[in-house]
Amino acid sequence: MESKIILVRDEFTAELEKAENSADLEAIRVKYLGKKGPVTELMKGMKDLTPDEKKAFGQKVNDLKSELTEKLTEKTKFLKEQEILKEIESMPEFDISMPAALGEGSYHPVTLVQRECERIFKTMGFAVEDYSEIVTDYECFEALNIPKHHPARDMQDTYYLENGQLLKSHTSAAQNAIYKKYKDALINDGVPIKAIFPGRCFRNEATDACHENTFFQMEGVMVDKDISISNLIYFMKTMLSEVFRKDLKVRLRPGFFPFVEPGFELDISCLICGGEGCPSCKHSGWLELCPCGMIHPEVLKAGGIDPDEYTGFAFGLGLTRLVMMKYGIKDIRDLNSGSLKTLTQFIDE
Ligand code: PHE
Repeated sequence: MESKIILVRDEFTAELEKAENSADLEAIRVKYLGKKGPVTELMKGMKDLTPDEKKAFGQKVNDLKSELTEKLTEKTKFLKEQEILKEIESMPEFDISMPAALGEGSYHPVTLVQRECERIFKTMGFAVEDYSEIVTDYECFEALNIPKHHPARDMQDTYYLENGQLLKSHTSAAQNAIYKKYKDALINDGVPIKAIFPGRCFRNEATDACHENTFFQMEGVMVDKDISISNLIYFMKTMLSEVFRKDLKVRLRPGFFPFVEPGFELDISCLICGGEGCPSCKHSGWLELCPCGMIHPEVLKAGGIDPDEYTGFAFGLGLTRLVMMKYGIKDIRDLNSGSLKTLTQFIDE
């Protein structure tokens, strides 16, 4: 029986030597290590041996089995490497010093406007923060004074994961984390919280020229002692006038959002007629641009900030909408289209 082991090993080695691809290897594996293969046969043959012989011989058969398995694995690895090398060799040679046929890439219009807004806010001392796209129900709603079953949730139906998390329906979902991050510096060292946080948002929308299920917003918050609506108006007017490169007028109308009190809709004077009234602004002279308001005491509390001592404002700039207005884009779906013909037209000014 010992000689049988040697024979199996030799035959196996010879066949393995000849194997050229994974199909060959699989055939060898089945032939030698399968249920009807010689290794199984050897095991079965042991039943006529004495217990001592069984022990010694069993060990040898087991060693053989491990040896064959190991060799198969080695050869599999070797053949894979050969395959990759062959693929590399067959690849056409290319000259990395050749100029690109496509010309230079360009930034997406949303990136251009986002960077412009970030630059302006940075000059006014705001930190730029990033935040996850997947958030909890607490972050997106509860911490913003929108309890379960509140009708305000209807406007923000979004996409839910099986674990209860969701794709954020507005950048306000980062507010709680921002307050918690900066509150110690505010309370202990008197450093005002000034942050903007641009981000991609998602809503369950029927898409049309004005609605998309994926769009961008840019949220901003400022919290300190004695922050008032005048601060909000000043920052928004300064920022928007710079983005549009003209001295804009702004006005506030009442608006409801559970996380601000009072809440507003901020309008800017029409970009086309400057406030005279034209078809673009439906002859009102104003364009609706940005919901905002004074941060609700409950929202500050949830962020660990005492609303009796501190106040603040928050705004939720529709970045996608701003891009459409700045560049005169009529259909929001163009922005997510991936069409280079459309998207490469915009340049950094
Ligand atoms: N998060 C609100 C929305 O997307 C906008 C908003 C932000 C309103 C901040 C007020 C203050 O609808």
